[in-house]
Amino acid sequence: MEDKQQAHIVLIGFMGTGKSTISQLLAKRLDCKAVDLDFEIECLSGQTIPELFTAKGEVAFRALETEVLLNSLHSRDRLIIATGGGAVLAPQNCKVMQELGYVVALKAEAEQIISRVSQDSSRPLLQGNVQERVYKLLEDRKHAYDFAHLTIDTTNLTTNEVVDQIWNHFH
Ligand code: S3P
Repeated sequence: MEDKQQAHIVLIGFMGTGKSTISQLLAKRLDCKAVDLDFEIECLSGQTIPELFTAKGEVAFRALETEVLLNSLHSRDRLIIATGGGAVLAPQNCKVMQELGYVVALKAEAEQIISRVSQDSSRPLLQGNVQERVYKLLEDRKHAYDFAHLTIDTTNLTTNEVVDQIWNHFH
């Protein structure tokens, strides 16, 4: 990354840590555009994420995820990119995020994640017993977000306080 103040900001973190919401607020604050990779994948495929998982499987989903991530990172405009929680599973994705963006990891306590993700059923990896699935995936991905330039624990923060903390790193 050449200049922190010009680099894309890439939000990573487990499902339900607030990446999409924070990306919108931060984009407004920094007067740039927010991009949500899940939304871009849905536009590109013409399917919702659950439909895509059912029709083509996770491998096809991950390929599209990498494609939209790379497209966004190569944009000339500065973007605030909200990634999906699994975008970090490909080591190559992490490398390019680190090189072309300022990577911010959002963390939250498991109970808070469970309460947030239980409110919608759009996540194929959390079908069945949500609580069990979250604990299992949190364990599997324990160190997946460690490569970030900055990590923020959002557990006791309001969305505006999270945005303030990120903002402070640029000023
Ligand atoms: C996934 C996270 C989801 C979405 C897909 C897979 C994951 O995005 O990309 O369901 O593997 O963690 P959010 O993190 O925005 O929920």
